[in-house]
Amino acid sequence: MKESLILVGTQWGDEGKGKIVDYFSQKFDAVCRFQGGHNAGHTIYSQNEKFVLHLVPSGIFYNHVQCFIGQGVILSLDSLLEEVNKLKERGINLEGKLRISRYCSLLLPIHATIDQLREDNKNSIGTTKRGIGPAYEDKTARRSIKVFDLEDQTNLKKKIESIVEYYNFQIVNIHNSKPVDASEMLVETQKAFDNLEKYFGDVTDTLEEIHNKGGNILYEGAQGTLLDVDYGTYPFVTSSNTLATSVGVGSGFPKSIYSNVLGVAKAYTTRVGAGPFPTELFDLEGEKIAELGNEFGATTGRPRRCGWLDLVALKYSAKLNNLSELCITKIDVLNNFENIKVCVDYEIEGKSTSYKSRNLHEVTPVYENFAGWQCELSAFKNFDSLPEPAKKFIYFIEDYVGVKISLISHSPERDGLIFR
Ligand code: GDP
Ligand code: IMO
Ligand code: MG
Repeated sequence: MKESLILVGTQWGDEGKGKIVDYFSQKFDAVCRFQGGHNAGHTIYSQNEKFVLHLVPSGIFYNHVQCFIGQGVILSLDSLLEEVNKLKERGINLEGKLRISRYCSLLLPIHATIDQLREDNKNSIGTTKRGIGPAYEDKTARRSIKVFDLEDQTNLKKKIESIVEYYNFQIVNIHNSKPVDASEMLVETQKAFDNLEKYFGDVTDTLEEIHNKGGNILYEGAQGTLLDVDYGTYPFVTSSNTLATSVGVGSGFPKSIYSNVLGVAKAYTTRVGAGPFPTELFDLEGEKIAELGNEFGATTGRPRRCGWLDLVALKYSAKLNNLSELCITKIDVLNNFENIKVCVDYEIEGKSTSYKSRNLHEVTPVYENFAGWQCELSAFKNFDSLPEPAKKFIYFIEDYVGVKISLISHSPERDGLIFR
């Protein structure tokens, strides 16, 4: 029996998950998204071409891989249709390879409208403005339209009208903006569904079949641990559970929870949007990381805030996800640094304090200093041949976090990896 694997981000997203899922897909029979929505932006280089995926799983570039979107994902039909069409135009085959749960809750254009209006207010948390928060709110409030609702026209009309009425009250009375037209949204939603209908079906039973035949499944996490709605830096989080432990509910295949868990962490830290970030840099070193790492959001194009690697937070992530192993990405971004820092403790008024998301705004990071390796790591083909300072950096992270680093990524390309 081949082992299945859950891959999750261990920081505030954008750790390079897409690249790693794409690489591992070669060895898997299926790849499944289980939470989040098109707030995700997963970048992949396939045959020297750049792709950014938002909803389609990052295994789509291999013909032998079956791709699934589980019911934990909030589904924007417009966004999915656009993504599917773009992939097809670029010669990527999706026929018979993509299957989406009929139980997914829909993200409607009105969710994005209300997300944008709320973000324009002073209590903004820097969302992607895609409508993710309102769509998950509706799911929890039992107002959601599910994919299967699209199969019954009368029922669909009633449900859309009721959601539009609910949000139009807020749009008009709280945000002083123009109401949204329900009939237009109904037509657009139906049109998108008609174009995508062939991709919908059962996910649970098909994942079980693959598993029972001895196949292996790669579960592709989106966002990152510190953006988890329960365990992240609340309220500056996304609206889904991003932890590996949410895979059972989100994929609909309960045996998924027995998979190994690979955590992905950048060799430094980034964050998009508002919220606490203890190791954030506001100086030239931060600018250098941003520039060398090309740190701009794959979904919104916003500049990412940058800082040193935070091992206190990473250890917390390792524990919450029960990580089996770690992958460190973007180590090449640190190639030209004379000195590299990693955060090993937090202090409040000079006293050491552990990771607690509620007081993260107040902590001062305590750093361990490392000499940089100051050379191109892509020249080294295996871990043992890496320069000593780079090995020391990796060993230190591993010792601190208590999880083996089995993989190091040193370029955006598929094969820019060093295994251990
Ligand atoms: P994801 O959301 O976790 O999939 O990550 P994103 O795609 O949003 O952001 C990661 C960015 O880093 C993308 O532009 C990747 O192409 C790039 N990337 C991934 N791994 C590496 C690496 O090892 N080195 C460098 N320089 N870039 C990388
Ligand atoms: P991937 O999968 C980085 C952040 C937003 C904002 C917060 C809430 O590419 O790693 P939302 O639109 O979800 O309500 O925004 O979460 N965020 C991400 N940051 N990478 C992502 O996804 C993100 N998805 C959401 O910037 O701070
Ligand atoms: Mg991303």
